[in-house]
Amino acid sequence: MGIMRDELTFDADGPVLLVGGYGTVGAELARMAAPVWPLVLAGRNVRRGAGLAEETGAELRRWDLADPAPFRARVAAVATVVNDPDDRVLRAAIAGRVPYVDVTRWTARVQRAATVAALAAPESPVLFSSAWMGGVTSLVAAHLAGRLGGADRIDVAIRWDVKDRAGADSVEFMDRLGLDYEVVRGGRRHTVMPLGDVRRVRVGDSLTRVAGIDTPEQFTLPLTLAATTVTTRIGFSSPASTAALLAVGRLGFFRWGRGERFAAARRGLLYAPGDGGTAQLRVDVHHGHDTLTAMVTDPAGQAHLTAVGALSALRRVRGEDGAAAPRGVVFPEQLPHPGSVPGALAAHGVRLTVESTATGSGAAA
Ligand SMILES: NC(=O)c1ccc[n+]([C@@H]2O[C@H](COP(=O)([O-])OP(=O)(O)OC[C@H]3O[C@@H](n4cnc5c(N)ncnc54)[C@H](OP(=O)(O)O)[C@@H]3O)[C@@H](O)[C@H]2O)c1
Repeated sequence: MGIMRDELTFDADGPVLLVGGYGTVGAELARMAAPVWPLVLAGRNVRRGAGLAEETGAELRRWDLADPAPFRARVAAVATVVNDPDDRVLRAAIAGRVPYVDVTRWTARVQRAATVAALAAPESPVLFSSAWMGGVTSLVAAHLAGRLGGADRIDVAIRWDVKDRAGADSVEFMDRLGLDYEVVRGGRRHTVMPLGDVRRVRVGDSLTRVAGIDTPEQFTLPLTLAATTVTTRIGFSSPASTAALLAVGRLGFFRWGRGERFAAARRGLLYAPGDGGTAQLRVDVHHGHDTLTAMVTDPAGQAHLTAVGALSALRRVRGEDGAAAPRGVVFPEQLPHPGSVPGALAAHGVRLTVESTATGSGAAA
């Protein structure tokens, strides 16, 4: 196995490496980053990135994370915008002291990656920005918590536009719908089933039926912001799609249909990307008797919003967001200046509105 022989070497004047950089999310990120930094885009079949490379002036390099052939580069920072199942990019970045950002890991992989990083004792920044939408949910939660002076309970509701685009690499996390996961409610850990705890939540102008899904912020926010209850739920813009998803979930399809034999059926249920939609999510933070509700809308869609999260993560690990770069492992919500979040989102056309409601009781819904 050549896994340990990848070599990323820190070069402050070098390019920023985007692994998976000409994919659906990667291309959005490359377009945003290109005016600021020189780029290298890596993937398996780099011909697919030729048009984007021309458009952005990026260099293309072949790196197949499933092929043990080692990869070497001198870079100023690296972001993974494709699943890195063996943590190759992470290990190489830490070893070479290259500032690192990830936006693709589901919770169990964040937990493993944090362990890998703890063992390697990184001196360079390692930002795990895999909370929903490249860390944007956590940035917004931190912003609201900053305004309230704390966060007791955090509720995230995601409205997935069925017309939106998503790449092939995005489907893997949907396979997680067959696996129970851990949440923190009222300060205690519970193991829950996916697609449970169904609610109707107003997201923007629409009432959306949303159900529980395993996302990394439910793991990190209790640790970083000391929230005692964190819940993320997702629903489709099409009520029929949500109803179908919940129905097959109730039948246990995601459990008994877990093997490879059912992969196509399982993914087909959820993965039917369109050519573009609007990304919308809502974050409620409750603290004491106060509640702040944020609505985040990205008319350019979820791949773009994820890229906005990734770009702000890259700026952070490079120390370009008005604060010194962090040292070692950090999560997006650990922001020195959470007041900067609205501006960072607005700069990329992402709308954020924040409303205040006094609930009268910290426990009120
Ligand atoms: N789409 C979204 O809105 C969204 C939102 C949040 C998070 N994410 C996460 O972001 C990641 C990327 O999603 P996406 O929608 O952009 O997927 P995508 O369009 O399939 O892009 C994946 C990119 O990675 C490259 N790639 C695939 N396998 C590789 C390998 N073994 N080694 C190196 N490069 C490889 C692909 O190019 P080649 O085929 O040439 O290798 C492609 O450029 C996923 O993990 C997803 O969960 C996506």
